[in-house]
Amino acid sequence: MTAIKDSFFSDIKSVNSLNDLSGLKVKYLGKKGVLTSEMKSLSSLPADERPSYGKKINDLKTLIEAEIDRLESGLKNSEMKQQLLSESLDITLPGKYTPFGAEHPINRTLTEIVDIFVKMGFSIEEGPEVELDYYNFEALNFPKNHPARDMQDTFFVGDNTVLRTHTSPVQVRGMEKRRPPVRFIAPGKVYRCDADMTHTPLFHQVEGLMVDRHVTFSNLKGILVTFLHQMFGPETPVRFRPSFFPFTEPSAEVDIGCIFCKGAGCRVCKGSGWLEILGAGMVNPRVFEYVEYDTEEFAGFAFGMGVERIAMLKYSIDDIRLFFENDIRFLRQF
Ligand code: PHE
Repeated sequence: MTAIKDSFFSDIKSVNSLNDLSGLKVKYLGKKGVLTSEMKSLSSLPADERPSYGKKINDLKTLIEAEIDRLESGLKNSEMKQQLLSESLDITLPGKYTPFGAEHPINRTLTEIVDIFVKMGFSIEEGPEVELDYYNFEALNFPKNHPARDMQDTFFVGDNTVLRTHTSPVQVRGMEKRRPPVRFIAPGKVYRCDADMTHTPLFHQVEGLMVDRHVTFSNLKGILVTFLHQMFGPETPVRFRPSFFPFTEPSAEVDIGCIFCKGAGCRVCKGSGWLEILGAGMVNPRVFEYVEYDTEEFAGFAFGMGVERIAMLKYSIDDIRLFFENDIRFLRQF
């Protein structure tokens, strides 16, 4: 009996898991276990020895059962702790960084321009970037084979198709769709075969058109001065210079007083004190003829500006190519 007890207590030293423990349980308490066969052997003892020997076996059984229960709850506890530890989340780990974008300075400037005109009652018109020669030139009074077409370095797509060189074709498309009064702006991408510090083959323009009875050059002036004062500040000087475009007559080039030197003359304004900002003029009656507007009854003005140029001035950027290089260090600054 003592031998069984000793062997049990030596066995439990190597019990490290619930699995080990159930092996031990089988070995001592199972159907073919040590204590069970000891019980069976009782019958071979003389009758008078049976009660006391039986009691010894039962006492040992009680002891072993208690010891196994004790071990079992200890092991369950530590195995649970182990599991909790291995499944725990390390909430001190820094989160995954997702960089998020920002509005491109060109889009930002474009939105700013559009918002000012929308507040003045202009709606927004769009047209295709791959454009028919008819809309890009013909209906804008650029005669075929006329040198005026060379003012703009055109990308040709086919015999009668070009990448639009300006947003002015949208004037014609917009007028074809409706009768006066007409008042819209047309923002969008335009293309010219040109590349240097101030030119990229793709750039953005915002066109403007207003047609109604009694529209005069004074209206044009009023709208553009209001726009320029909102864009560059209410004190900004504005000047109109005579110019030429086939689709406007008379035509003007509109300048603002240099925002860098305040008119004193600097590198940006090339010493003149003025910065050229947009082209404008009264719609040439020839254009109205193409869209069948009555030239006796209606008059209109149109204007067009380059968005990159305005953004370059607003943000003091001297190389236009920076806008299109996708250098995050440049773009982050806006
Ligand atoms: N389309 C002209 C250009 O790209 C600008 C312009 C628009 C001029 C409307 C007059 C009227 O240079």
